Amino acid sequence: MSKQKRVYVCSSCGHREAKWLGQCPSCNEWNTMEEQKRHPAGKTPIGAEPLQPAPRLSEIAGNTTDRITSAIGEFDRSLGGGFMPGSTVLVGGEPGIGKSTLLLQAVAAMRTVLYVSGEEAAAQIRARADRLSVPGDNVTLLCTTDFDDVMARLRSESPEVVVIDSIQTLVAAEAGTVPGTPNQIKYVCHEIGEWIRAAGAVGILVAHVTKEGQIAGPKVVEHMVDAVLLFEHAAGELRFLRAAKNRFGAIEEVGIFTMGETGLREVRDPSGIFLTAAGQERPAGVVAAPCYEGSRVLVVEIQALTVPAKGSVSRTFSDRVDPRRISRIAAVLEKHLGLQFSDQDVYVNVAGGIRLSDVATDLPLAIALYSARTGIAVPARLLATGELTLAGEIRSVEHLLRRLRAAVDLGFARVAAPYPSGEEGHPALIPHGSIVEAIRTVFGSGDGNGPKGG
Ligand code: TYD
Ligand code: MG
Repeated sequence: MSKQKRVYVCSSCGHREAKWLGQCPSCNEWNTMEEQKRHPAGKTPIGAEPLQPAPRLSEIAGNTTDRITSAIGEFDRSLGGGFMPGSTVLVGGEPGIGKSTLLLQAVAAMRTVLYVSGEEAAAQIRARADRLSVPGDNVTLLCTTDFDDVMARLRSESPEVVVIDSIQTLVAAEAGTVPGTPNQIKYVCHEIGEWIRAAGAVGILVAHVTKEGQIAGPKVVEHMVDAVLLFEHAAGELRFLRAAKNRFGAIEEVGIFTMGETGLREVRDPSGIFLTAAGQERPAGVVAAPCYEGSRVLVVEIQALTVPAKGSVSRTFSDRVDPRRISRIAAVLEKHLGLQFSDQDVYVNVAGGIRLSDVATDLPLAIALYSARTGIAVPARLLATGELTLAGEIRSVEHLLRRLRAAVDLGFARVAAPYPSGEEGHPALIPHGSIVEAIRTVFGSGDGNGPKGG
């Protein structure tokens, strides 16, 4: 006779207790502890099958299954080449960013799809599909918030792909009655994930992310899914689809889209999308730089501004570049070129709103800061790339030639850069060994006797 042991689980946060409590000791919610029955741990029922030997690693066949593609190159790229059968992908983003649009476009070319919407009525989804010219013969639509409905439909239809839009709207009776609680999201995600794995299907779970950047609730299921894609707003109608986690591929790849009247359009050659005026004369403080996003070069425009410090200490403001990095580069300029920054507040922006972490943007940052501080504009059709050491040397960067070519294709004629390491030269390349040298060639003088005022 197997005796059932009592467990009480908080329907809000998933905390477990051996006895019932009026208030959850973990999240402090009231009346959320609910009984869940389970078998005593570690007991094998009488008459169970004898234990089979576990296979050796060498006996296991590799996963050579072909990936399922969405026929949207930029979507597949963000996953490292499409969806792995048996995997679950979480797609997060702020409300209105275009998640439902992206997924409806993505499933259009797949074989059999179950699209579950807990947010919109069928007619609304049909209207979106019309706008996107998605016929949808391959898509079964299920508008429900009842998790049991979803599981029943999965079992009866066995679709190749299931989209849940969104996991915050589904309610599973086993996990309480309130949708969107961590407990609900965990339960739903686990059950669907198990079905997907067993069926060798693909699960795409939509999750809303709050303005604060934290995935509301779904943060708690990141470890339960195989990949997490974040759909982010770049500049204007530009959208980035970025992998924050990917069990089956790299996380550097970024899918780039623009939102238009008839849905999302891929940006296959993004190198110049962030340049307002490629290769033209720009005001002081502005310089272009080729940087890497995944495996592609984007040429971005860095803008710097220096003003006399308002407080007794100078400060650095930027949400695009690590302010500590800016301070370090300003310190190198101060030390090696005698240009004072310690009495200045420094602002740095990157046109297009992308964040720069590529070390090759050290030299362009230095040039932008120098230009901003002295009021001397960077010559037209010149851009820069290179890593800067504290000693003021310019270090070589990865893929220098590819950066050069991308710049030249966009109309740049001269590239202030490090000496190429092993790679052949290029007519546009102006190599430099140090920041002093680079500033001298770019601005025509580098003695640091620039204006001391503001
Ligand atoms: P939606 O996919 O509903 O966003 P989410 O699911 O992330 O909440 O798209 C929201 C916005 O996109 C909405 O403001 C309308 C706009 N949109 C377009 O600009 N073009 C289109 O073709 C579609 C379908 C939507
Ligand atoms: Mg939506």
